[in-house]
Amino acid sequence: MATYVELSTKAKMPIVGLGTAKSTAAELKEAVKIAIDVGYRHFDCAYIYQNEKEVGEAIQEKIKEKAVKREDLFIVSKLWITFFEKPLVRKGFQKSLENLQLDYLDLYLIHWPCGIQYMDNIHPLNEESNLSSSKETFMDIWEAMEKLVDEGLVKAIGVSNFNHLQIERLLNKPGLKHKPVVNQIECHPYLPQKKLIQYCHSNGIAITAYSPLGSTDRIWPSPDDPVLLEDPNIKAIAQKHNKTVAQVFDFKLSDEEMETLSSFNINWRAYKLKLFSHLRDYPFHEEI
Ligand SMILES: NC(=O)c1ccc[n+]([C@@H]2O[C@H](COP(=O)([O-])OP(=O)(O)OC[C@H]3O[C@@H](n4cnc5c(N)ncnc54)[C@H](OP(=O)(O)O)[C@@H]3O)[C@@H](O)[C@H]2O)c1
Repeated sequence: MATYVELSTKAKMPIVGLGTAKSTAAELKEAVKIAIDVGYRHFDCAYIYQNEKEVGEAIQEKIKEKAVKREDLFIVSKLWITFFEKPLVRKGFQKSLENLQLDYLDLYLIHWPCGIQYMDNIHPLNEESNLSSSKETFMDIWEAMEKLVDEGLVKAIGVSNFNHLQIERLLNKPGLKHKPVVNQIECHPYLPQKKLIQYCHSNGIAITAYSPLGSTDRIWPSPDDPVLLEDPNIKAIAQKHNKTVAQVFDFKLSDEEMETLSSFNINWRAYKLKLFSHLRDYPFHEEI
């Protein structure tokens, strides 16, 4: 099995990455150092996770120890929804770059297609009634994202949580200079996203799957939510291979088993982010 995906820029994105959301600062620094030692090279970060400083410290320590070289790492970050104005894109980006103690990123994503008006508070997620759409849209701020590529500050740009119509709008943008190379989306057996993946692949856009285990520790869990890691049908496939449900290395599932896994689709999302649902460009009103 290939260990990386080749992006449309020809850059190689390692297939397995370490997610950094929801980790506390102290545990994350240690986790990143251990991850580098055991071979992880792809790290998925975001300004909103509020822990990029610790990721940066861990990376710098490992580079100094000569455990890894910068050019062998694939570091991703994401523009938060409060930075949806062209000049603010640079501001949001610089904060991530400084916290990560790097001079370039391998991939920078627009975290969500819907922006809100600028606020100092990094985490507006509890302020539903106050959220109003930004004046500029993802179509406007894409130009500021493109400038980051032109200035050598990021190797490639992409999107996250975009539906296929939003990607189509971006691809048809007059004067588009740099295409999105990745769409990072929630993807697991309860939400296999076959059609969106097909659409992205047919346009040369790679997919990164987030919450692949169903995000047991997600924010706002509901008691009626299904529990992916407890699914008896998935457990049966795992048991057949003498593995736990969450294990992904050292073995291969048959095409038939992969087909069975994708038949568990119930269109269930761990991250619906309903508090964004009144905003312009909320992505999940569309099926694909
Ligand atoms: N672009 C976006 O909008 C977006 C949204 C969500 C996530 N993401 C990215 O995707 C990454 C992963 O997503 P996620 O954290 O939401 O969901 P996830 O990886 O599906 O689930 C994480 C949960 O799985 C548990 N887990 C991990 N390994 C396990 C194992 N071997 N056995 C049993 N349980 C295990 C973890 O438990 P412990 O905590 O005990 O390890 C944690 O509760 C994030 O860190 C972030 O980088 C992006």
